[in-house]
Amino acid sequence: MFAGSLLADADRQGPLPAGGPDLIAALERSGLRGRGGASFPVGTKWRSVAGRAGGGAVVLANGAEADPLNRKDQTLLSSRPHLVLDGAFLAAQTVGANEVILYVGERHRTAQAALARALGERPAPQRSRARIVIAPPRYVAGEETAAVNYIETGVAVPTATPPRPFERGVDGRPTLIQNVESLARAALVARQGESAGGMILVSVSGAVAVPRVVEVQVGSTVGEAIDVAGGLAGPPRAVLVGGFFGTWLDVGSAWDLRLPGGCGAITVLSAGISPLAEMARMVRFLAGESAAQCGPCYFGLGALAATCERIAGGQAQALDLERLRRWSGQVVGRGACRHPDGAAGLVHSALQVFQPEFAAACRTVGQVAA
Ligand SMILES: Cc1cc2nc3c(=O)[nH]c(=O)nc-3n(C[C@H](O)[C@H](O)[C@H](O)COP(=O)(O)O)c2cc1C
Ligand code: SF4
Repeated sequence: MFAGSLLADADRQGPLPAGGPDLIAALERSGLRGRGGASFPVGTKWRSVAGRAGGGAVVLANGAEADPLNRKDQTLLSSRPHLVLDGAFLAAQTVGANEVILYVGERHRTAQAALARALGERPAPQRSRARIVIAPPRYVAGEETAAVNYIETGVAVPTATPPRPFERGVDGRPTLIQNVESLARAALVARQGESAGGMILVSVSGAVAVPRVVEVQVGSTVGEAIDVAGGLAGPPRAVLVGGFFGTWLDVGSAWDLRLPGGCGAITVLSAGISPLAEMARMVRFLAGESAAQCGPCYFGLGALAATCERIAGGQAQALDLERLRRWSGQVVGRGACRHPDGAAGLVHSALQVFQPEFAAACRTVGQVAA
């Protein structure tokens, strides 16, 4: 296995090195970036919270992971809970936090149990500063301002306006929100040095021989990650990179693509599955996951889902393709969080990659209407 592996090594690895300014510098030199989606540099985030904390900050380890195509964080929490705790406590020591919140998805029971057991094995001073909060099973609950709102009020809805959590988060305190894999990687950098940040977990699913979470080097290609999952199982139609907020690619261009930072999920669509039915199912899911507080997101995603369903069900109307194009452009940047942007990216890429299927479905209906 490679240096800095999360999945191959034993969970507990002896005393933790101390956190502090040297660790921030090491994280910056390591180039480690967040693994929760936005790919923001970890060292920079720790420095900005440390600069304003004065000892009363909060560390929020984000293990909500509600994307049905992603399993990397639940797998990590289940197999290496102590390493995630190492990263969270190192972060707390480094940024001046007196509370650690471990935010874990409601459906991830094995991960919850593993984390609770590991926390019980930690020294009393760490146990007394940490608590596990179960995130509701909603896609948007993992968005960082929704997580803060949920912890404060019990309602997981995002906030668009400043201040951001690193300035004023949980209970008005500076809050370092970091994906659980980012924290585990930070602990490896502390233990093993700067080169230990160079691997990434990817959940590989769909038409592959062994669907599972793999660990590859940052900069690996999509094809290499699929090969680690045993390679293709039958003829593929397309590859989705990045889960429900991801981008569809045809197999040729996906194969040599370098994994985008924070991507986390690759799904191979079998040639035997209808891409139109798959899109109808996915966009309906995303529409149902809207927090329903921004009109363009709530109504826009609902309209996109209804249109996809009409097309997939052989009921396309003459203007449906044009509607998908126009509406998927119009919802971008129009919500309090990036939920509509993620859905729009999925639709936009599907229109390109599945152009023959969309065109055929709409043409057939046009002929029937004529
Ligand atoms: C709709 C939505 C859902 C999200 N869900 C998660 C999630 O489940 N886990 C996560 O770590 N980040 C999630 N994020 C990203 C977080 O807002 C935040 O950027 C991340 O937790 C920061 O950690 P990182 O810098 O280590 O990546 C989500 C973002 C959006 C817009
Ligand atoms: S953009 Fe959508 S998911 Fe995000 S806050 Fe607004 S309604 Fe909720």
